[in-house]
Amino acid sequence: MAPGKVSKICCIGAGYVGGPTCAVIALKCPHITVTIVDVNQSRIDAWNDKDFKLPIYEPGLEDVVRGCRGRNLFFSTDVDKGIQEADLIFVSVNTPTKKSGVGAGFAADLNYVELATRRIAAVANSSKIVVEKSTVPCRTAESMRTILESNSKPNCRFDILSNPEFLAEGTAIGDLFKPDRVLIGSLQTPEGKAACDALTEVYANWVSKDRILTVGLWSSELSKLAANAMLAQRISSVNALSAICEATGANIDEVAHAVGFDSRVGPKFLKASVGFGGSCFQKDILNLVYLSESLHLPEVAAYWRQVVEMNEYQKRRFSKTVVDTLFNTITGKHIAVLGFAFKADTGDTRESASITLIRDFLNERANIKIYDPQVPHEQIWFDLAEACPNLPLESIKKSVTICPSALDACNQADALVIATEWKEFKEIDWEAVYTNMNKPAFVFDGRLILDVEKLKKIGFKVTVIGRGNVM
Ligand SMILES: NC(=O)c1ccc[n+]([C@@H]2O[C@H](COP(=O)([O-])OP(=O)(O)OC[C@H]3O[C@@H](n4cnc5c(N)ncnc54)[C@H](O)[C@@H]3O)[C@@H](O)[C@H]2O)c1
Repeated sequence: MAPGKVSKICCIGAGYVGGPTCAVIALKCPHITVTIVDVNQSRIDAWNDKDFKLPIYEPGLEDVVRGCRGRNLFFSTDVDKGIQEADLIFVSVNTPTKKSGVGAGFAADLNYVELATRRIAAVANSSKIVVEKSTVPCRTAESMRTILESNSKPNCRFDILSNPEFLAEGTAIGDLFKPDRVLIGSLQTPEGKAACDALTEVYANWVSKDRILTVGLWSSELSKLAANAMLAQRISSVNALSAICEATGANIDEVAHAVGFDSRVGPKFLKASVGFGGSCFQKDILNLVYLSESLHLPEVAAYWRQVVEMNEYQKRRFSKTVVDTLFNTITGKHIAVLGFAFKADTGDTRESASITLIRDFLNERANIKIYDPQVPHEQIWFDLAEACPNLPLESIKKSVTICPSALDACNQADALVIATEWKEFKEIDWEAVYTNMNKPAFVFDGRLILDVEKLKKIGFKVTVIGRGNVM
């Protein structure tokens, strides 16, 4: 295959990254056939749903899929056929934190990457460019190359690229349409550079070339971990400051605003909250911690580990504030938790702060009413069962109700907790909520989205992260 002539792409993994990323490639490159494959039949069925009830909620995604599905975008469970027909293959499978064995709790579980790589080696009957899209530890590309080269057929050549994905859930389509940068890592050999040129040409269909950065393979792999570590570190830094604000009477929004005005710091990603969640930040930092330890850099490992510990502290601190404020007991009380997704504009719940809060409230034997505009009910039950392994689901269901609206969740509640920054929570009919709540009616804003003065005027007792006593 001549460089620059990618005409068939296969993406292994139809998840939060593979699905949106390759759907956007298909939309922007009508001359390229894109097939997204996955072993999960129900996920593929949902991608192919005739009414476009897609397996993930992401603003703008449906329009993208409507624009090209059946034209040059296909979803299939036929992984082997997808591999065989493609000249470029994205590996976009999950890389969760290992749960057991060496590195448990820190290292990335590379089993899915390895299985996908072995499948490529086993079924490919022509040369391929294989692109690591999953977030992986440094030098994973080398293992992939060894597997591919040791198992390939004669006349099959594999060039490996690293092309980590920087999209953020909730804004994925905008991020993919107009990325801050596209990063491509390759071996610095003539073949590696030719493969890099071929992938560059794909992105160049809609991304200007000065935003396509080409670097060495290992730098590319490490850059993804580094970017997530530094983003999460900003949140943990501002959350650490929020604790000082609460103790001193300073206001974290004002502090963050003042700090962010420094052009060296910048204003983005300085919002205090109940803690970061999502499938990536914690996993990728723990991965960096593990990497640092493996490289005998214990001080570096300790530095990054503290970012995750601060996040855990912030969540614990928030649940404790709720208990303390409700006269040191929430046993038998009703708490409305608004938001279950880890952030607004996604239905993804992985590592959501909401799960930790509800687990803590259940441990205090409170009754909880949950409302989230996007998360499916079965996902909520699955997450709570996983978070509370000592409680049978039946007894969780006795204490937890999933409600159809914020108003329903707040009915007869003693306290209301904002756990996700959904826009609709800013527009709630607060007078109606107040009327229906038990008094005193407590509100805990874990996302700094509410109009505190307005709520206080109505009669609520309001507690906000990063502010001294505002009741
Ligand atoms: N979610 C994000 O915001 C985000 C952002 C950037 C990078 N990433 C990284 O991208 C990767 C994928 O993340 P995700 O959120 O899309 O995960 P996901 O769990 O949503 O999707 C992964 C998919 O891969 C499929 N899969 C696993 N092994 C397979 C195999 N051998 N053959 C075919 N399909 C297989 C699974 O069935 C699943 O549907 C991870 O490494 C993650 O760290 C995620």
